[in-house]
Amino acid sequence: MSKNNFEAVPLNNLDEWEDDLLRRYPDPEAIATAKATEEYRNYEEPARDTVKEFYRLNHTYQTYAFVQEKRNEFLQFNKKEMTIWDAFDFLNQLVDDSDPDTDLDQLQHLLQTSEAIRRDGHPDWMVLVGLMHDMGKVLCLFGEPQWAVVGDTFPVGCAYSDKIVFPEYFSANPDFNDPVYQTKYGVYEPNCGLRNVNMSWGHDEYVYQMMKDYLPEEGLYMLRYHSFYSWHREGAYDHLLDEHDRNMLKWVMLFNPYDLYSKSPEPPDWKKLRPYYEELVKKYLPSTIKF
Ligand SMILES: [Fe+2]
Ligand SMILES: [Fe+2]
Repeated sequence: MSKNNFEAVPLNNLDEWEDDLLRRYPDPEAIATAKATEEYRNYEEPARDTVKEFYRLNHTYQTYAFVQEKRNEFLQFNKKEMTIWDAFDFLNQLVDDSDPDTDLDQLQHLLQTSEAIRRDGHPDWMVLVGLMHDMGKVLCLFGEPQWAVVGDTFPVGCAYSDKIVFPEYFSANPDFNDPVYQTKYGVYEPNCGLRNVNMSWGHDEYVYQMMKDYLPEEGLYMLRYHSFYSWHREGAYDHLLDEHDRNMLKWVMLFNPYDLYSKSPEPPDWKKLRPYYEELVKKYLPSTIKF
C-alpha cells in the first residue's frame, strides 16, 4: 500500500472512531453492568493505536485552506442525485468485512438511532435527523480519506482548544504556526456565532448543507454539530458562540446519547419499519437528494 493509501484508511473501519467515542464518553446507564466492563476491556491497545493514528492525520491535515477546498468541491452537490432509498444502499457499501466485530451496516446504526428517538416520543423531524445524521459518510465513497469524513470536528482558523481529543497532534498542522490562525479569535469576531465559523471538514457539515432547506433549525444544529464534542461535551469555544448557539446547544445535547448509546447487536426489522419511514421521508424531503 502506498503512503497515501495508508493515510487514507488508518482505521479498519469507520466504526472504530465511534467505538472510541464510547470509550471516552461511556453510557452512564450501562457503565455499572458487567457486560459494559467486559466490552470496555476489548478496546485495548491495537484498536487504540489505529484511532490515535487517525487523529494524528486528522489534526495534521485539517487546515483552514483544506476546509475551503473541500467546501468548494462538495457543497456544489454536483456528484450524484439519488432517492433516499438508493442513498442508503449506496451508503451501505461502506460496510467493512475485514473486521469481525462490525456486524451492523450503516443503515442499521441510523435506524437504531432514529428508533430510539421515536420510542422516546420526540418530534418526527428529530426521528428523521436520527435516520439521516450519518448520510454524509458517503464522502468516503467519493474517495475522501477517513480523516476528512469522520472524527471530532473543531473550528479552523483560530486557536485549537485543549479540550479537543489528542490536542498535541495539532503541532504538525501548518496552521499551528500561522500568526493569525493561532490567536484566540483567529479570523473570527468575538461571539460571532457558529454559523460564521468554519468547522473541520467532514460528514456533519456535508449532511447539514444537504438537509438545510428541509428540517427545523433545532434538527439542523443536531446534524451540523453532532461530532463537535469539544463544544457539546466539554463546553469549549464559548468565546465564539452567540445567544442562538447557546439556545441550540440543548438540542445538540439531546441528540448525542441517541447517536452514542443506541447501538445494539439486534438489527432493526427494516421490512416492518419501512412504511413508517417512507411516510416520514415523504413529509419532509424531496423525492431525490443531491450529493
Ligand atoms: Fe456521525
Ligand atoms: Fe452516528
